[in-house]
This record gives sequence, structure tokens and C-alpha cells, in this order.
Amino acid sequence: MNQRTAPDLFEPGLFQGTTFYEVFAWYRANDPVSWQHPAGEPEGFWSVTKYHDVVSVHRDTTRMSSVKGMRLGSADSAVDAVANKMLIVSDPPDHTRMKRVLIQPFSHEILGRAEAYVEKVVADVVATALQYPEPDLIKHLERIPTDVICAIMGLPRSDWEWIGKQTTEAFESPSEVRRIAANGEIFKYFTDMVKENRRTATNDFISGITARTHSSPQLTDEELVFNFSGILAGGNETTRYTLAALTHQLAEHPDQWRRIARGDVDPAIATEEGLRWSVPGMHVLRTATEAVRIGAVEIAPGQRVVTWIGSANRDEEIFDNPDTFDVGRTGNRHLSFGAGRHICLGSRLARLEIAAYLRTLRSMVRSLTLEGAPRYNGSNFTWGLNELPVVLHK
Ligand code: HEM
Repeated sequence: MNQRTAPDLFEPGLFQGTTFYEVFAWYRANDPVSWQHPAGEPEGFWSVTKYHDVVSVHRDTTRMSSVKGMRLGSADSAVDAVANKMLIVSDPPDHTRMKRVLIQPFSHEILGRAEAYVEKVVADVVATALQYPEPDLIKHLERIPTDVICAIMGLPRSDWEWIGKQTTEAFESPSEVRRIAANGEIFKYFTDMVKENRRTATNDFISGITARTHSSPQLTDEELVFNFSGILAGGNETTRYTLAALTHQLAEHPDQWRRIARGDVDPAIATEEGLRWSVPGMHVLRTATEAVRIGAVEIAPGQRVVTWIGSANRDEEIFDNPDTFDVGRTGNRHLSFGAGRHICLGSRLARLEIAAYLRTLRSMVRSLTLEGAPRYNGSNFTWGLNELPVVLHK
């Protein structure tokens, strides 16, 4: 790559493949905190590509704010509607108040009780994929995160398929109108559910959260609705992308699959490499509230800062052979769940699902074959595979 001309991080179609990793490598080496102003964005922003700089932005809880949005490309009106009411778009003290309550159902102890259920869902999905192979394995894999999060949230079984479709539409529809409509449907769904539960107290997940708020400041019904939507969305898309990426890599690298199949590598260790490799949350946005120095650059108050988690996860100063997929990689300090106060609420659950999937592949599957070219969704935010022609064999 030309060392004098900065490559375009926002070239259309860049995230439809994996060549953006070369672009990230150029920035890490030549311009690690670079000013970007892509077409279509109202203002420019600082783009941060090195691991330690990304960590410092995520950990700077006083000077790096989320209330003006946590991703590029969202409409100001949509951000304003949820600011300080939805975890991921909030700052302290609202963030602290809400997270204290919402983290409870995702604690180690409570999730321990969901483990057997997760194993059952995963075994069922893999058995179905073995019996009824689809040209696109994602048609099977997508059931894992949807069924698990819907069950944890106590949503009626008859709604799961609809919910899965709405969340995918809300994230992935090429039409903004359809994305907004799907989000509206999800908000309406939870608004009705929260209202109904105030009356009947039949949903244990919602009742648990509202009961726990007795000892801490109450979440309003509106905050409950926004955050249930956030949990549902966070739980669905991202985990599916990691499952798909891991499957793809194992099909492409039979040597790595053999290490799993023979039991040479602990699935928990391989899970971390799947997370490092897949990066379903490709970037995160913050806005500086005060002057901040990042590397050699002085960020002014009010300026926006984008951290590229995908770049941090391939930083050669942190990871040996970062471009090699190595299921046995140890000391894997990837940033796929972010860092600092906004670190992913569902990281334990996601790890549980991914490790269960690997254990199930090990016990039920002999080999995986790649039958065509996989397709990436092209997003620089929730990046991942949306078509995966892999077949599992008994
Ligand atoms: C492979 C799976 C996942 C990945 C890669 C992922 C990634 C992330 C990242 C990078 C953040 C930080 C955003 C920021 O700093 O602004 C985050 C936050 C969040 N995630 Fe996840 N996530 C995953 C699974 C889940 C699951 C299963 C759930 C639901 C249970 C979930 C719910 C959330 C929520 C509610 C937040 C906001 C936390 C806060 O602002 O304090 N995520 N996730």
C-alpha cells in the first residue's frame, strides 16, 4: 500500500470483505489517531486505531461521553430520544443507576442456571443443521442467540421468530424506513409487555428487574422499554456474527478444527479467539467533553472520537501473529466487548453460548466443509457474515 497517501477508511464496500484490515494496519503504522471526514457525515471525527489508545478512550469515563451517540451514522433525533435513558447512550449518573439494575440477570450466578438450557438449544440447532442442511448455515445458527435471549427474557415462545426477524430488520435492512419501522415495532412490543406486567407480574425477568429497583432508584417504564430493546438487539446480532465467523474459520482451517475435535484446545480458549477474530462491534463513538490528549493528538472539547475495535484486535504490538486465526491463542486480551464502564452487559452470556456451540460441534460433528463464498454484510458498525455456505457433517 502507498505509504504517502492515506487510504480511504470509508470507501464504499470496504467492509464487504476483509481488506479493511490492511487499511487499519496502515493507520496504526502511519497515522494512529487520524482526522476523518467521510461523505455523508455532518462533521469529522478522530479515528483511533491502536490498542492502547482505544482502551484509553473506553476507560476515560469522565471526558468521553456516549450521550451524543455511540456509533456513526445515527440520526440526532433518534439519539436524543434515548440519551441517558438507554445504557449504551448514557453517561453517569444515569448509566451507573441503570447498569446496577440491568446487570443482575446477567450475573455469573443467575446465568449458571441458564447453562443447561443454552446447551439444549445449541444441541437442537446443530442436530437440525446436520439433518436438514441449508445452503446458508446462518439460517440455523441464528436460532441460538434468539432462542436463548428470548427465553431469558421470558418472552412467549410464539413471538420468538417474529422477534428474531424484527431485530435483524432493525439492524440490517438496507432501507432506513424499514429499520426505523422495525425498531418502532420492538419498542411497541416491550411497551405493551411492561404495561401488562405492571398489572399481572407474570414475566419473571421484568418483575425481577422492577423488584430490584426497590433498593435503588426506580427505572421508568420508558427506560425499561429502551433497555429491553437494547438487550434484545445486543443479544441477537452480535453473537450470531461470532458463531458464523468461528464456523467459517474452522471450515477454512481444518488443522484448527482438528485441535478442537481432538480436545487439544479448551473451548473457552477458542471462544476468545472467535471473539477477537469476529469483531461484531467494529467501532464505537464517543464525544470529548474536555480537551484530551490521545497519542500525539490534542482532542478539543465537543470533537468526536471513533475507536476501531477491529484494528485494536489486530495490533501487532499486543498480539503475536495477529492475522493468524489460532484457536489455542492464550493471553487473548481482545477488545470485542469494549472496555471500561460500557463494557458489554451480555459478555458472560455470549461466552456461554459460543463455548456451548464449540463443545457441541466437538461432540456431534465430524467435519465442516465450505461450499461457496461467504458474504459479509458491509457494515462498519455491526460487522459480520450474513451468508455462510458451510455444511456440517456427522
Ligand atoms: C459476541 C457477542 C457480543 C459482542 C461482540 C458485543 C459487543 C459489545 C460492545 C463492544 C459493547 C460496548 C459499547 C460501547 O462501549 O459503547 C457492548 C455493550 C452492550 N452489550 Fe454487547 N456484545 C455482545 C453480546 C451481547 C449480548 C448477548 C447482550 C445481551 C444480553 C448484549 C448487550 C449489551 C448491552 C445492553 C450493552 C450496553 C452496556 C453499557 O452501555 O453499559 N451484548 N456490547
